[in-house]
Amino acid sequence: MNMHAKHTADATTVEEGLAIAEAQDAQFTDEMATETAMQNTLLTPRFYTTNFDELDAIDVSPIRKEWDELIAQMTADPNKGHFKKNEDWDHVDWEGMDPELKKEFIDFLISSCTAEFSGCVLYKEMKRRGKNHDITQLFQLMARDEARHAGFINDALREAGLRVNLGFLTQKKKYTYFRPKFIYYATYLSEKIGYARYITIFRHLEANPEYRFHPIFKWFCEWCNDEFSHGEAFALLMKTDPKLTSGRNVLWIKFFLTAVYATMFVRDHQRPAFHKALGVDPDWYAQEVFEKTSELSKQIFPITLDIDDPRWLKNCRALYRANVDLADAKARRGLGARLAQGWASLRAGRAFVALYLIPAKKHELPATTRLEPCY
Ligand SMILES: [Fe+2]
Ligand SMILES: [Fe+2]
Repeated sequence: MNMHAKHTADATTVEEGLAIAEAQDAQFTDEMATETAMQNTLLTPRFYTTNFDELDAIDVSPIRKEWDELIAQMTADPNKGHFKKNEDWDHVDWEGMDPELKKEFIDFLISSCTAEFSGCVLYKEMKRRGKNHDITQLFQLMARDEARHAGFINDALREAGLRVNLGFLTQKKKYTYFRPKFIYYATYLSEKIGYARYITIFRHLEANPEYRFHPIFKWFCEWCNDEFSHGEAFALLMKTDPKLTSGRNVLWIKFFLTAVYATMFVRDHQRPAFHKALGVDPDWYAQEVFEKTSELSKQIFPITLDIDDPRWLKNCRALYRANVDLADAKARRGLGARLAQGWASLRAGRAFVALYLIPAKKHELPATTRLEPCY
């Protein structure tokens, strides 16, 4: 690539960011990375679509003050130009990397890139379809950030000879429809858990730099601050309508909390070499991230999951083992494999229900919603 070509990190709008990415796609395609990103299993990041008119109809006037402060912060764009390689980017010895670690790390990068891009596509579509200035402005800002994040991960992948073809994904990946309230719950949580995940790794590596086996982790602090702001935006959107966080919707909130936490637990435990290289025990990491996310989500959700209940970890582990057996059975053929698949699915379902049924903790919602990144 031309060294003087513009970089996704400097793009001020999502359209510009994607045009730069597209120009790079044209020069570089890799089947494997895109194929991995195309997978649509329960655990891999999905692409979403929703009822954009309903979203566009949101009136932010009840929360105008908090809203304007957030938008001003995002418009000021403190991270412009940040998400690209500079002199802090150390040389990465891909050849010399332990093959297990390399495999898991690449998987981590591809799934992170897909998740970033999935947010980008959803936000950009909202911005494109909306007429409500408050809403389109917010979604433009968030899409801008996600395009930069995805572009930066692609920079890291390119060094390993890989790249996720973003244009191809937009056209070919299957979109899952979620009604707006489910988008709020799921996206709010994925932004906040994203913040908690990145900041936990960043702080850990700050204290133990010998485990920093790749330079991308140095960028995690500013990165997670972007995700933090995105989460703030969804908290405010939910606050415009108190029905979204009360009554029967609390059951949905509990469902999404359980699903998001359980997915993270299962996915992370599938990468033992990656966590070992980081010097992180996946059980500790999961618990740490759940605690931070729960603390943050008290800003808008009236309940948090009781992750200290002994049934929590027990059933997370049961869910993980069922998923391992399920993947194993899916890779085989024949009647035995089909039976094993059915049995593993049942066990996974049972573990998930057991997690869901652990009584939640209740909270009063604070009068003001806005938080600052504090970890
Ligand atoms: Fe992001
Ligand atoms: Fe985000």
